[in-house]
Amino acid sequence: MGDLEVDIILNLKKADRHVTPAELGRACKVTEGEVSEAVGELSGRGYRIDHVPGEGYRLMGTPDLMDVTDIRSDLHGSVLGGEVFAFGRVTSTNDVAVSLARGGSPEGTLVIAEEQARGRGRRGRVWFSPPGCGLWFSIILRPGLGAEGSATISLAAAAGVAESLEEAYGIRAQIKWPNDVLVRGKKICGILTEAEFIDNTVRFVVVGIGINVLTGKEQFPDDIAAIATSVAVETGRRVSRTGVLACVVKSIEANYSELRHHGFEGIRTKLLQRSALIGKMTRVKTPDGVVEGVAADIDISGALLLRREDGSTERLVAGEVMGIL
Ligand code: BTN
Repeated sequence: MGDLEVDIILNLKKADRHVTPAELGRACKVTEGEVSEAVGELSGRGYRIDHVPGEGYRLMGTPDLMDVTDIRSDLHGSVLGGEVFAFGRVTSTNDVAVSLARGGSPEGTLVIAEEQARGRGRRGRVWFSPPGCGLWFSIILRPGLGAEGSATISLAAAAGVAESLEEAYGIRAQIKWPNDVLVRGKKICGILTEAEFIDNTVRFVVVGIGINVLTGKEQFPDDIAAIATSVAVETGRRVSRTGVLACVVKSIEANYSELRHHGFEGIRTKLLQRSALIGKMTRVKTPDGVVEGVAADIDISGALLLRREDGSTERLVAGEVMGIL
């Protein structure tokens, strides 16, 4: 799928009416013959394009499967999604993104798949990634931060996911530190961030995001059925996955830019406002053992501060919330 097809879809989306081949040709700087050839190609890919002789072409619908043209046209002008690799089935989009990053792919490269054969969650867990249900994607970032700063990137991404789900779909989303997005206490999105360093500087960060979009209640496996939810379950609507992707990626881009230009404080405020933990007695498994206390704050480097019963404060830079008590 070439740039011309992306350009035609962009123009048809923008126009939202019939557009003549001559107009499209002028806008895309190609001949009418090339327009007609590209429209044929798009129709073959599942785009529903109405053709009225004399009036031209109008986009009536996009394919059910996520299409790289659609993604690229939705993210046109954004840094994230500047390059898009869309696959049917991969082991894990994080694995693909890490190898692309090692090979020099630029900041903003987005890798997405319909299905992951070995979708990975945090702490070695499996991430349920069936075809047709969700958004399983990874973004390469090159933030030029020190090792400590890289933790704040996944927090900024989590805030972006939560904000966009609320703004675009009216879903009240909360964040469970470090970066699970919850709706009514159930997980709608998980984030797995992996980074490589040169000396103490980040060479690249791959932010891997899994969002349950169209998964029905009965489709979740037994072990997560009670603790998982999806955009479709929460809204009662069969939303477009590429539509969700565009909102989420743009919102992550805004937060990433805020982080780079103004530091973590603004993101921290958003995280505190949306926190599922603050003020609650929380049990966290850390690399050094299990800690319990009231979640009191998130500090300026993204660590969770727990106030223990004896009044002391525990600062957690990594961990897994085992329970909100
Ligand atoms: C978690 O909550 O445990 C993190 C889940 C992260 C899942 C996403 S899906 C896209 C990317 N590829 C993976 O293998 N994992 C992440």
